[in-house]
Amino acid sequence: MPKTEEAERLLEEGAAGSGWPVQQPSTSPNYLFCCPWIIFVPIVGVVFFVVVAIGLWLILNLAWVVGLIVGVPVSFALVYFWFWRCCPGYWPTDLYEKVIYMVHMLMTINSPVPNAGPEFMPVSGLRPREQLQKGLLDYALFLQVPYGSSDEFELSSETAIEQSLTFLPQSEHLETFGPDENPVEFVMNQLSSIYPPIYQEWSDKLSDTALVRFCLHGLGAHRLGVEMRDGKKLFVVKTNALSGLPVREGFERYGGDMYFDKDWKPVMIIDAGQGPLRQDGIQEMVTTKPGDAGWERAKFRFRSSVFTLVTLVDHLYDIHLQKSNLFVTAMREQMSSDHPVRRFMTPFMYRTITVNDNAFHNLLTKNGMAPRCFAFTENGFGLAMAAGPSLLLDGTEVPADAGGPILFRADYADYLKSKGIDTVYWRQVSQLFQLYLRFVLAYLECYYPKKEDFANDPEMLAVVRQYFYQLETAGPNTVSQKVDFTMPQSSGKIDEKYMFYAMFLAEIMFWVTAGHEQAGAVEVYAQDASWCAFRWVPGATVGTKQSATATALLMSFTSQPMPKLLDDDWTHLFPTPPANSGKNPTAAFQKFQEELRVMADECDAYNAASSSRPFPENFPMYVNNPRILEVSVSL
Ligand SMILES: [Fe+2]
Repeated sequence: MPKTEEAERLLEEGAAGSGWPVQQPSTSPNYLFCCPWIIFVPIVGVVFFVVVAIGLWLILNLAWVVGLIVGVPVSFALVYFWFWRCCPGYWPTDLYEKVIYMVHMLMTINSPVPNAGPEFMPVSGLRPREQLQKGLLDYALFLQVPYGSSDEFELSSETAIEQSLTFLPQSEHLETFGPDENPVEFVMNQLSSIYPPIYQEWSDKLSDTALVRFCLHGLGAHRLGVEMRDGKKLFVVKTNALSGLPVREGFERYGGDMYFDKDWKPVMIIDAGQGPLRQDGIQEMVTTKPGDAGWERAKFRFRSSVFTLVTLVDHLYDIHLQKSNLFVTAMREQMSSDHPVRRFMTPFMYRTITVNDNAFHNLLTKNGMAPRCFAFTENGFGLAMAAGPSLLLDGTEVPADAGGPILFRADYADYLKSKGIDTVYWRQVSQLFQLYLRFVLAYLECYYPKKEDFANDPEMLAVVRQYFYQLETAGPNTVSQKVDFTMPQSSGKIDEKYMFYAMFLAEIMFWVTAGHEQAGAVEVYAQDASWCAFRWVPGATVGTKQSATATALLMSFTSQPMPKLLDDDWTHLFPTPPANSGKNPTAAFQKFQEELRVMADECDAYNAASSSRPFPENFPMYVNNPRILEVSVSL
């Protein structure tokens, strides 16, 4: 059709019109809508008044009855909790912490210690592959957590009572410890009934030597880095990333980067959190060196900031809500209950949905336990959580031109070694990862005589694709040049895909066992507010009493034991291998246990010989010892 004809047709169509016509305001509008119902207003008004008055009278009387029935026990409970402020418990804190303690204690005090046998993990208790009901986390994180009701082995539980406590008000009690007051005794008087046993020995906590141990063999071991300053290579553990986050009135901001020379002599702490919080781009840095007047204070601030960073980012955000959560969700949603890999990974995900639901609803929710525990304002807490992916040091931070993101522990240990970080922590991490990998490979051989059968397994691909799609720290396009999970049928050579999948499983096993132990089993630190605290008043070198109680209470949630990695037996979960495999998964499991035992003996021997080794290797290393590890995450 010529253009002119088309233009004419469009003009005619427009002139014909479609849609409701435009209307101008009326020149004589109805202003008050008085007619005709105005005459009924008095009669209906009186009837309405009588009905409302009778209703109010009934509600008032009912309130009296309910008040008498409910009010008396509630009053008793409030007075009972109020007396906790007195000797011998001395709880200078809110009702919230007291009720949380009471609920947790009653729920766990007589709960059985689980093992990995058929009594606690029966095959009949596995649930079919299904979409799980989930909730979206607060704090601008795009992470979803399955509800506890979807857990397996009849572990389904809803934490309705604890969830409903977030409405309780929050108040600050800034009272702190005097020089002769023992903060360890203080919290243990309160929480001995639920506090987990402590296997780490720290006879010296506050000296400079203890600070070296803290960074090399303790809570900072997985965050150790190197940096060139003034032409010298220094070891460093950093926390200044937290220093710009606002805290509540009455508390200090976090911060402190601790530097050591090549011989592990403390050099300085550079602290971006001591000066005022400025918005003009010029952040005051306070440098403190050994022997300076503020040295002990700077050390306390640094240790406490490491404790905060590891707890919030490495433990709660990464291991609970990212890695273990995304894996168990993908496994349950994408893998059949009789799939050999689902059966293999089931013990490592035991109770994980319940535990993470607890973290989701009680800890990392608005007005929950974690926002109350730390000094951050609500905005500061949200910013800290949202910054989680960029604050992690787990290999995903390695840039592409340096081979990153690095996903697997053995590769990351090699990378760190090439940077000059060759510590017993990372040597043991690499050893444990490779031990796990050998178990995975031996198990897979039993079910997949041909590698392509596993490399092309659609359910395994679905699990891995969903996991990396939802992982906030390494998207599916970045994880590997060889295996692209965004493709409908992922590309890559059979051997490479097979090994990638196997290492992925070994990596998850590491995070829920030793990875969790390093970041989450921090009972020894949480017990002493003069060593590590979550919040403290300006100038102090000890946390507040309220903070000491809340921190120890948070850590008491780890008291719920999980099945042991060593000497438990979960071979009943392994399905019967195909006839042509010729391999026995029980034999692979026994070999795995033997290797764990050998490594545990080596770790024990290493610790027994600590004092005979030269500084700085003269300390024990606990968290990678298979003898103390549990098979799945606890809170
Ligand atoms: Fe945990």
